[in-house]
Amino acid sequence: MKISLPCFLIFILLQITHAHNIDQPFNAIFSFGNSLADPGNFIILARPVLPYDVFEHLPYGVTYFGRPTGRASDGRLVIDFIAQTLGFPLVPPYLSQGQNFSRGVNFAVIGAPALGMDFFQQRNITGFLPTDTSLNVQLSWFVDKVKPLWCNTTQSCLDYFKRSLFLLGEFGGNDYNLALFAGKSVSEAKSYIPFVIDIIRQAAESLLKQGALHIVIPGNFPTGCIPILLTIFASNNKLDYDNLGCLKEYNTIGFDHDMKLKEMVAQLQNKYPQAKIIYADYYEPVIQFLQNPSKFGFTVSDPLQICCGGGGPYNYNPNATCGQPGVPACSNPSTYINWDGIHLTEAAHRIIATGWLKGPYAYPPILSDFH
Ligand SMILES: *[C@@H]1O[C@H](CO)[C@@H](O)[C@H](O)[C@H]1NC(C)=O
Ligand SMILES: *[C@@H]1O[C@H](CO)[C@@H](O)[C@H](O)[C@H]1NC(C)=O
Ligand SMILES: *[C@@H]1O[C@H](CO)[C@@H](O)[C@H](O)[C@H]1NC(C)=O
Ligand SMILES: *[C@@H]1O[C@H](CO)[C@@H](O)[C@H](O)[C@H]1NC(C)=O
Repeated sequence: MKISLPCFLIFILLQITHAHNIDQPFNAIFSFGNSLADPGNFIILARPVLPYDVFEHLPYGVTYFGRPTGRASDGRLVIDFIAQTLGFPLVPPYLSQGQNFSRGVNFAVIGAPALGMDFFQQRNITGFLPTDTSLNVQLSWFVDKVKPLWCNTTQSCLDYFKRSLFLLGEFGGNDYNLALFAGKSVSEAKSYIPFVIDIIRQAAESLLKQGALHIVIPGNFPTGCIPILLTIFASNNKLDYDNLGCLKEYNTIGFDHDMKLKEMVAQLQNKYPQAKIIYADYYEPVIQFLQNPSKFGFTVSDPLQICCGGGGPYNYNPNATCGQPGVPACSNPSTYINWDGIHLTEAAHRIIATGWLKGPYAYPPILSDFH
């Protein structure tokens, strides 16, 4: 007994520590990004400016919330599934009043690019958003407005943020789309990649220097599989399409961006070996969904068809988009990959979130050290 009792106690203590890790590896979640992560910031910015904001109207939100929340989907986003799986409340939007930020803040804004407005203005790309919500603006919201809620000294911030989870992106998709929608060529859009990667790297390094030890950096979609782009840049030449029906040349934007992003993440991992810096993949899951849709529950007959839209080859009609009056949604969104022509359904987000938390869509998975 004299020997076994301490062993038993140590065993119990280990179990408690272990259980604690499972339940709550993180003290807070901070999210930066665009429509793939925005839980309601854009609708607040847009309200005084836009006469009609589709994201404030059903059927956005219909599947989970039963009302529009400002999320660009029928239900939860990847960040929402991550928060819920980790036992957190949904991470509240930074711009909303009266929210409790004690478990984290979400700075993401629909339409946000990585690069600042001046970058686009210099290239005659204008008229896209009510204000500049680019990555550095979101980062300044974090540093200037929110960080003092948790810590006021360098050491106390290091201590606090080392147990926080940071999601940095996806960024870049809007930078390239802004160029394409302004009539720029694919090669011009791709010429922005080094600038986009560098601004993401700077943001990641800024967070790491402030104490972050867990950063998730998501990549881009396969650009040429996005139904809006498939509609706008439709080609008569079959050779322009791959075997999934995606536009090959446009796919190289997301592909090249992701290659460069992975290289950058690998460099950061070398430079900050004490931190867990995760590349999270949006590209490969979407390709897998399109390759084998029924395996993932996407039983719609054409997986490039969108659920909510006003007709056309992919059901995306630029004159009748989701959220506009009278534009219908399918009755079974979970059988579709794409919700509104650019954003995915809640069903797709759920699969991607699980893949980021436990694999195989993140390198390393978010929960890999928390068994
Ligand atoms: C915010 O939430 C935390 C727990 O998540 C709670 O302890 C705290 O009292 C809340 N603050 C306010 C002002 O409601
Ligand atoms: C932007 O537009 C102005 C006026 O049309 C033109 O003079 C200028 O060359 C353009 N700049 C670029 C970078 O395209
Ligand atoms: C940091 O300082 C500000 C201003 O003095 C104060 O309002 C805030 O409560 C402080 N935060 C912490 C975590 O001590
Ligand atoms: C959208 O409206 C414009 C202008 O009325 C028209 O030229 C175009 O053909 C319409 N597109 C579709 C897909 O209906």
